Amino acid sequence: MPVTVSDEQLQSQFTYIDAIASMNNGKQLRAYTHTFGCQQNEADTEHIRGMLREMGYTMTEDANEADFILFNTCAVREHAEDRAFGNIGSLSHLKKRRPEVIIALCGCMAQQEKNVEKIKRSYPQVSLLFGTHALWRFPSLLYRVLTGEKRVFDINGEDDIAEGLPVLRAQGPKAWLSIMYGCNNFCTYCIVPYVRGRERSRRPEEIEKELRELITAGYKEITLLGQNVNSYGKDLGLDIDFADLLRRLNAVPGDFWLRFMTSHPKDASPRLFDAMAQCDKVAKQLHLPFQSGSDEILRRMNRRYTAAEYRALIADARTKMPDITLSSDIIVGFPGETEQDFEQTLQLVEDVQFDLLFTFLYSPRTGTPAASYEDNATPQDKQRRFERLLKVQDEIVASRQAAYQGKTLRLLVDGTAKGPDYPFTARTEGNLLVCVRGEGFEIGSFIEAKIEKTSLRCLFAHKL
Ligand code: 5AD
Ligand code: SF4
Repeated sequence: MPVTVSDEQLQSQFTYIDAIASMNNGKQLRAYTHTFGCQQNEADTEHIRGMLREMGYTMTEDANEADFILFNTCAVREHAEDRAFGNIGSLSHLKKRRPEVIIALCGCMAQQEKNVEKIKRSYPQVSLLFGTHALWRFPSLLYRVLTGEKRVFDINGEDDIAEGLPVLRAQGPKAWLSIMYGCNNFCTYCIVPYVRGRERSRRPEEIEKELRELITAGYKEITLLGQNVNSYGKDLGLDIDFADLLRRLNAVPGDFWLRFMTSHPKDASPRLFDAMAQCDKVAKQLHLPFQSGSDEILRRMNRRYTAAEYRALIADARTKMPDITLSSDIIVGFPGETEQDFEQTLQLVEDVQFDLLFTFLYSPRTGTPAASYEDNATPQDKQRRFERLLKVQDEIVASRQAAYQGKTLRLLVDGTAKGPDYPFTARTEGNLLVCVRGEGFEIGSFIEAKIEKTSLRCLFAHKL
């Protein structure tokens, strides 16, 4: 059973929230947050924003006018880390001009010794740093800074779950719903298990309760989040798996779509696809990262499936849900990847015909096994492979998008678009982006619309 943060521990954090709210009373303080990385980080930031709001802060989009600035960071690739350091670095002037501003850093980078040391040494403008495990302790940590402690660093913590934290969600009809935290897979390139700890699942009744609250509040698209949602429940000892959870959540009354991410092919099963096919509110969309089409690379990545097993999964999903939208993650240039290995990745991409791909150049992460693997390919080789992959995928996307021409689809209107001709954005059940025109709807409406034209990145439609 996963450890849940006790009521007393949480209660003490609410006491700090109240104490800070009294200190802030009448001061009209503003808070700015910036999130790097994945949806889990976005969901975490929403909890911090919820706590900040209860402390009396109003949110601002402009760091220059903020009294409290937070960066929620990502460590999955070097580029994300560099951007975070760049952002913090550029705030040193602001801190000189307004020394009372509090600059904080949290998230995956803050869970790593090497980054913490670097911040301590070279970024004196950061006065608060806390890791992913200390998120629920944010009120007491901020209180320490506000009451005079010069720098507060907390990277300790257990693999636990905190229920009932405040939350301030982004505007619009979409919401994140975390169903589990952490990862046990230890893919050899990935830093996540080191910074987010072991897998722990929330209890199904807590998840259902939150879903019901979201539906009552008017949310229309709920994305269930976890590093590897397919292993949901393994730690609970309750005889419930992810397919069961989907069925349970599908029974919640209301008109909404359920999505989920991310799935791991080794745990995705025919049982899951049966549940998806049979649950009317579960969107027929699957993000199933395969990373590489070469069995040798998959073995060295510790992915625990073969390309043939992956193909079989996709075939099963398509048999059960012929219109399913598929997306995947791919890493190009993993240490030791040969031209032949890469050709197998290209072949898989061409065979499956994904609607969307997220392609990454391998980035060595200190502390992961792959960081010490021998690597023969030059950066130029890797770049060339990367560009070939993008080109192949662009052609696939163009033809898949074109096939939507003239179709009538159900869409969820989710925002405003830039151009005047199609003033709204919407999503298909498969999560494809659509720009829409027409009358008699608002953000948050489900509408029927006809696709008029298509491009690589967007479909264009009018409401029927
Ligand atoms: N280098 C490049 N890409 C990575 N990913 C994870 N770790 C690395 C790394 N070290 C990619 C994987 C994963 C996605 C979220 O990020 O493709 O699925
Ligand atoms: Fe990283 Fe693999 Fe876990 Fe995904 S499943 S978070 S790639 S270790």
